[in-house]
Amino acid sequence: MSDSSYQQLGNLSIYESVASTNDQLWQRLEQGLDTPAVCLSEHQTAGRGRRGDQWQSPPAGNLYLSLFWPFPANTLQNGLSIAIGIGLINTLKAHGISDLQLKWPNDVLVNRHKLAGILVESRFGNQHNTVIGVGLNFKLPTATRDKIQQPTTSLQQLCTEVPCRNELAGHLIQNMIETLTLFQARGLQDFVPLWSQYDALHNATIQLISDDVTQTVKAQGIDENGALRYEHQNQLHTLSNSHVSIRFAS
Ligand code: BTN
Repeated sequence: MSDSSYQQLGNLSIYESVASTNDQLWQRLEQGLDTPAVCLSEHQTAGRGRRGDQWQSPPAGNLYLSLFWPFPANTLQNGLSIAIGIGLINTLKAHGISDLQLKWPNDVLVNRHKLAGILVESRFGNQHNTVIGVGLNFKLPTATRDKIQQPTTSLQQLCTEVPCRNELAGHLIQNMIETLTLFQARGLQDFVPLWSQYDALHNATIQLISDDVTQTVKAQGIDENGALRYEHQNQLHTLSNSHVSIRFAS
């Protein structure tokens, strides 16, 4: 990690096992500690994904990492997930991993198989406190893979030589701090033009699934706020609610 990134961090904690690295950082905030901080763990007993899903977190050498960032109260957070997803892709590319794509808003896929997930949680008070959690599969034991309801992959499956986890974690923390600093200053404008090169849904027919409603639509990239653009019955719509589940229709 570069000196300037390191200096911005108030704390970096590494655990053998926690419930959730996101929760560790929220607990730190509840104790009044509101400087940027990172938490890593070998294992999570209650790892969380988006939409209330579990994130399978066995002690198998994977990356479970969270970063706390206190945005000033006036910062607009639209599209933060997009910026973080692009940052994660850039870090993985720098470690020689190719064919990476982003499924809106921020699932990292290779050949439609999920390699990494990002969970952004915010609590608004006198500042916009945000915890960003990243789960990156290095190894997926068969028993774990069997519990996951979607196609998944791991660096062990994709790489002849798996990158050093500590080095990758250091670069990712640095990249996240740079991404958050840029996003805080300039919003999403520097990230939107990069989206199309990684867009796994580009022009794809997809299903939007929320509660008991499923719509089949055609994805059309993102707008300037990071919302998903899609065409349905010859009309263009946007979706900013990441609680909707998205599947490829074909
Ligand atoms: C998703 O794709 O649904 C998001 C998964 C995010 C998982 C990470 S692992 C580290 C951090 N701690 C958690 O409990 N969740 C995130």
